Amino acid sequence: VYDWTGIKKAVRRDALADRPRTIWRYRELLPLDEAPTVSLQVGWTPLIEAPGLAKLWKVRRVWVKCDGQSFPSLSFKDRPVAVAINKAIELGIDTVGCPSTGNLANAVAAHAAAAGLKAWIFVPFDLELNKLIGTAVYGPRIVRIKGTYDEINALARQVAERLKWGIVNVNLRAYYAEGSKTCAYEIAEQLGWTFPTAVVAPMAAGAFATKLAQGFSELRRLEWTSGDVPRLYGAQSAGLAPIAQLVRTGGQADWRKGDKRTSGQADGRASGTLVKSLAIGDPVDGEWAAQAIRDTGGWADVATDDEVIEGISLLAEATGVFTETAGGVTVAVTQRLAREGRLTMKDDVVLCITGNGMKTVEAIDGASPKPPVIAPTFSDLEKLIS
Ligand SMILES: Cc1ncc(COP(=O)(O)O)c(C=O)c1O
Repeated sequence: VYDWTGIKKAVRRDALADRPRTIWRYRELLPLDEAPTVSLQVGWTPLIEAPGLAKLWKVRRVWVKCDGQSFPSLSFKDRPVAVAINKAIELGIDTVGCPSTGNLANAVAAHAAAAGLKAWIFVPFDLELNKLIGTAVYGPRIVRIKGTYDEINALARQVAERLKWGIVNVNLRAYYAEGSKTCAYEIAEQLGWTFPTAVVAPMAAGAFATKLAQGFSELRRLEWTSGDVPRLYGAQSAGLAPIAQLVRTGGQADWRKGDKRTSGQADGRASGTLVKSLAIGDPVDGEWAAQAIRDTGGWADVATDDEVIEGISLLAEATGVFTETAGGVTVAVTQRLAREGRLTMKDDVVLCITGNGMKTVEAIDGASPKPPVIAPTFSDLEKLIS
């Protein structure tokens, strides 16, 4: 709970201009009691315009929010983890951890190492190699678990209760989730304190999408940005899309008794998707995300594995941004929304590209032709060119 009247009096939008270009420029809007002491360089990722995509999709303008370039762990998870780690320090906790589909593991391990905290990371046993290596390098204790993500999550809940560790997305979740709304603040500020008309975001547990909507609403509440909050569009993989289904069908969430296929099955594809970072069948914040999407007048859609691969290539070729599979979902879903007329020439669209392509290279291995091999002579090269 924030004291909005107090915040409104204490900080004016113009005061931000002199602050560091990190998430901490919004410190009054984040749930820390003390000034942050670690993870000080997180945030302010590039927002780049993509006129080629705007032309292709017949919308007014398109921007890409590049959280795959996030410091230090190359996904938007640096945002929530930076807040959670600082809260853990405030609370005197010396061991942190998380259940993770990969990006969160990278972020918790990196931030804990930099802060000098112990870390325990619980992942599906079949996590992508690069995400495992990109976690192990920081020296945390990693436990690979033969179970669904939801079972791993349940185990992490027991850890939080019995060992009193700070499990960032379990008992520190309220603080952790707030970090994600800084992405919304940055989008508005980078657009000169205006709102786009539509924002497309990938969804797994649903916290990111929920907090984007919250972040935009808070800017309106503070009167830092005027106009309608953007319509929020949620993107999931066709293989596992409980939140998108909820948006599309309305009604109540039934995943607690229903579909439990999540990352961590016998092989990656058994979870029904190549997109392991989004493979959660029992999304903790799913109902909130669906509500936020409906409240803003948005929609949700899904992408097949083939569309994800095409989406990754399209983004790379049109913008120079290499995304992981979650970004492929976002691009493919935006393409579908445009085709169906949900996005039009009146729209300024921001795509949230939340993770880096180098983390999931196996997903697109083979998607491009193999480069030719030649002898180191100009004549061979000439032949090839001609
Ligand atoms: C790259 C990427 N994008 C988006 C998400 C979705 O975030 P949330 O679980 O908050 O919905 C995740 C979650 O792990 C992710 O790794």
